[in-house]
Amino acid sequence: MTPGAGIKRCPLVVIFFTRYVYTIWRGIATSRCKERAIDRLVVKLNEGREWMKRIGMVLAIAACVLLVTAPAWGQDSTKAAAAPAKAETKAAVKHQYVGETKCKMCHKAQYESWSTTKHAKAWASLKPEEQKKAECNECHMTGKTAADSMLVNVACEACHGPGSDYKMTKNMKDPKLAAEAGLMPITEASCTRCHNKKSPTFKPFDFAKAKDPAAGGVHKHPVKAKS
Ligand code: HEC
Ligand code: HEC
Ligand code: HEC
Ligand code: HEC
Repeated sequence: MTPGAGIKRCPLVVIFFTRYVYTIWRGIATSRCKERAIDRLVVKLNEGREWMKRIGMVLAIAACVLLVTAPAWGQDSTKAAAAPAKAETKAAVKHQYVGETKCKMCHKAQYESWSTTKHAKAWASLKPEEQKKAECNECHMTGKTAADSMLVNVACEACHGPGSDYKMTKNMKDPKLAAEAGLMPITEASCTRCHNKKSPTFKPFDFAKAKDPAAGGVHKHPVKAKS
């Protein structure tokens, strides 16, 4: 309870300390009983500690309010940085790859036909050390699932788009809903993002010819053939 320790903590204590000295002096001066002066000092000390606590609390609350409201002041960098980060998370959460086994449940015929295409063997064409290289595997795989597992080969979603949101029957049956949920129309660009000169084995790409299942890339269309 020595005021000395308090001085180190906060200069405000100096004021209290001065008052304690004054109290002792007054105690000695006004009372013949030294104990009474010491009693009064103890009471003052306790009062002083209470005040320190209160001031501390007010300062802590002020600091909290500052911290909470600071990002709302004008174009604060914290806020500006937080916005794109949020948008990024949103985009990442949207449309995840799920893997061809999920599509197989409802599109068994396309799955079986796809299994016989070169796309279903694209991963095996790479040597083990090439499978680890981004400059090779980017076109010989489909993507990564939300759980970060690699979907190898050029599977359904490499052409039709990541399926986490469109694969539900409700969306699949309605072309508009399916498109909104990420089902991509197949255009030449769906293919040329891989069939281009960056491929070390590039062969000139003719979309109309390559799209024909007979070319060995795209699965047969049993459903369309029937209707
Ligand atoms: C729960 C069953 C189900 C699952 C799972 C499913 N689909 Fe479908 N899909 C359907 C139904 C139903 C249709 C509409 C009828 C049809 O074309 O067979 C459809 C239609 C399609 C079409 C044609 C759309 C059009 O407008 O021509 C494509 C392409 C497609 N699905 C791809 C996929 C892919 C790729 C996956 C896996 C990511 C997948 N589907 C998963 C049920 C499913
Ligand atoms: C994700 C990359 C990727 C996409 C997208 C892609 N392909 Fe391929 N494609 C490949 C790879 C890799 C091979 C070679 C596979 C192998 O032989 O190991 C290939 C092989 C082929 C072949 C066989 C070529 C040959 O020399 O025998 C055809 C045909 C083909 N693709 C057509 C298409 C068509 C049409 C599209 C678009 C509708 C398409 N591909 C989209 C990567 C892709
Ligand atoms: C830009 C996409 C892309 C990149 C990157 C890529 N490939 Fe390919 N790869 C293809 C396509 C598309 C084919 C089908 C043939 C073609 O190029 O038209 C293919 C075919 C192959 C084949 C089969 C060759 C054949 O004639 O059947 C092998 C082997 C191969 N690539 C190895 C590699 C290696 C090794 C790397 C990395 C150094 C690599 N690829 C990088 C797209 C790519
Ligand atoms: C190389 C690209 C490619 C891959 C990989 C691919 N598809 Fe397709 N898919 C097509 C094309 C091209 C069509 C024809 C529709 C068009 O021209 O718009 C099609 C059409 C479809 C259709 C509509 C019905 C039909 O057969 O025409 C369904 C369903 C479908 N695909 C499911 C799948 C499933 C399931 C897988 C994986 C097992 C898969 N696709 C893999 C390119 C691809």
